[in-house]
Parts: sequence; structure tokens; C-alpha cells
Amino acid sequence: LSPITPPEDDEIVADSFAFAFDIDGVLIRGGRPIPEAVQAMKVLNGENDYGIKIPYIFLTNGGGKTEAERCGDLSRQLDVEISPAQFICGHTPMSEMANKYNTVLVVGGEGEKCRNVAQGYGFKDVVTPGDIIKADSATTPFRKLTPEELKNSKERDFSKVTIEAIFVFADSRDWAGDLQIIIDLAMSKGGRIGTLSETFDEGPPIYFSHNDVVWSAAHENVRLGMGALRGIVEYTFKEVTKGKTLETHAFGKPQIGTFEFATRLLKRWRKNEHGLNAPPNTVYFVGDTPESDIRGTNQFNEKAENDWYSILVKTGVYQDGTVPAYKPRVTVPTVLDAVNHGIEREM
Ligand code: G3P
Ligand code: MG
Repeated sequence: LSPITPPEDDEIVADSFAFAFDIDGVLIRGGRPIPEAVQAMKVLNGENDYGIKIPYIFLTNGGGKTEAERCGDLSRQLDVEISPAQFICGHTPMSEMANKYNTVLVVGGEGEKCRNVAQGYGFKDVVTPGDIIKADSATTPFRKLTPEELKNSKERDFSKVTIEAIFVFADSRDWAGDLQIIIDLAMSKGGRIGTLSETFDEGPPIYFSHNDVVWSAAHENVRLGMGALRGIVEYTFKEVTKGKTLETHAFGKPQIGTFEFATRLLKRWRKNEHGLNAPPNTVYFVGDTPESDIRGTNQFNEKAENDWYSILVKTGVYQDGTVPAYKPRVTVPTVLDAVNHGIEREM
């Protein structure tokens, strides 16, 4: 393949390569764009020496909003139009499980947002920790619902409800209360609230939207993420059951399934947005977290039909001067350097 397709509608598109971007620590930090990210988007959209547009998608472990809402935020932050058709967040692949379970507990995020996201995915009956606390305030001794939470939480008789699965969609806003409720269900008779199993092996499956123990936010040092809660859940279950093991599941990077999902999205995006039918030879993945971004890209590269090329940046979790736990193909200072590196390799 030549790196350039013939001009069509005045647009020259790179057809042999594409980019995929992590968000936190690469493009955004603490809700603000990393300065070089805005320029990197412009370069991808044709402001480069060759006047070519380069297809790209986003692949973040973050979440807590609908894909459309998050893309609206990103578009404003990066000063470029970003479509949900080029975006995957931690919980996006959970949408494929909407038909598998009837009643599910959805944990994490602000207010009712994650319930709305889950319903948008097609989950039929979505319970939140707020619903459970509303039904029995003794569930969480130190957590009282605010008047707004009380109003939004659903009134229901949990004696007739079976929670078939637990999905942690986004970071918990109340680790202690959410931990209590997850452990209660993990120890229950088949997901029935208020019951206690005799064997502790019949709780509902528990899915986390990713496993990042730390991530890069506004603070100069990394902050604790959902992977830390996952570890606490598994540790606590072992303690309270006197040695039973709880196996939970994680979506997101570095899971191969997430990269397969990204491959399908990139294929659709390149076809529908750019009219490209053949897969790219190389996908440059730009990330800041060796344990999820670099590990996942390198692992996926071993089985992918094309070359997934990992690029580590120094603007997030990875600290310059340390040895990354998983080795990238190249390390560069910022996302702008990553984009330029890919273009130079190709052209
Ligand atoms: O909670 C978000 C975080 O763990 C990672 O987000 O964009 O770096 O994959 P991202
Ligand atoms: Mg990141």
C-alpha cells in the first residue's frame, strides 16, 4: 500500500497507517488539555508537511458518561470535532453484555449518569447502590444519601430482586459504601440482597470497566483508580469469608478483547469517514501507562493482522528516568512528538 490515497473531495487520506490514543495523561490531565494535544489533532487533520489527513480513534479506560457526552467534552477541550464513532471508553464493550442479564447493579460515576449509560446500552433493569441504601439505610452505616440522591434513587422491594451481575462502570464516588454493597452481594445467596450464602460461591459475577491501579489526573503524583478498588474487593472477600477466593473480571486496556473491539471500530471509522476498505499496515497506539497501554498494545501486536506500534509519552503515569514495566517501541516527550514520529516513519 502507498501511504497516500488519491485525492477525493479535496481530501488526501493516509491509508497505510492510523493512530489510536489513550486520553488521560496523553491528551487530557485533570480535565484540561495537555497543550501539545491540541496541535497534535491539527497535524492529524492535515496541518502537516504533506497536507494529508490521518485517521485516528480514542481508546480510554475512563468513563462515567455516555460516549456522546464525553465526545462533546473532548471536542471542546481539543478544539476538534470528535465523534462517538471514533471513541471507546472503559465501559463501551460492556454494552455487548446487555442481553445476557436481566437485573444488574451498576456502580460508580456521578449521580444517575451510569444508570443512564447502562440503560442506553440496553440493560433492562438497572439497580444502583443508592436504590439499595434507600431501601435500607442500615446497609452503609456511614453513608447517608443526600436529598437529591434520595429523590433520584428508585424505591423497590428487594426481597423479590435477584442481582444477576455487578458492573463497575466508573470510579466509585464512595469507596466504603460501594465496597460494602459489592461484598454483601458477593457473599449473598445467588445475588439476593439481604441473604448470606453458606458456601460463598454463588454471588453474581463482578465486572470492572478497567483495572488501572493508578491514573494521571491534576495532581503531580498519580491518583488511585478502579484497579485499586478491584484489589480491595478481592482482598476483603478473602478476609470476610475466611479464605475464599473471589474472581472478578476486568474490561479495558490491556485486555485483548478491548483491542479487538478497537480494531472493529477503527475498521468502521476508516470506511465510513474516509472511504478506506483495506486495513492499515500500522496502528500507532499512544499511551502513558505501561501496564495498560503498552502492555495491551504489545500483546495485541503478537496476534493482530497488522502492526500495532506502542508509543509511550512522558506526560502522565510514566515518569521520565524510570524503567517502564512494559517496553514501548519508542518513548517520546508528548503526544505531538508521537504523531510526528509516526508520520516520519511512514513518509
Ligand atoms: O479512570 C481513567 C483512567 O484509569 C485511565 O484513563 O484515558 O488513561 O485510559 P486513560
Ligand atoms: Mg492514560
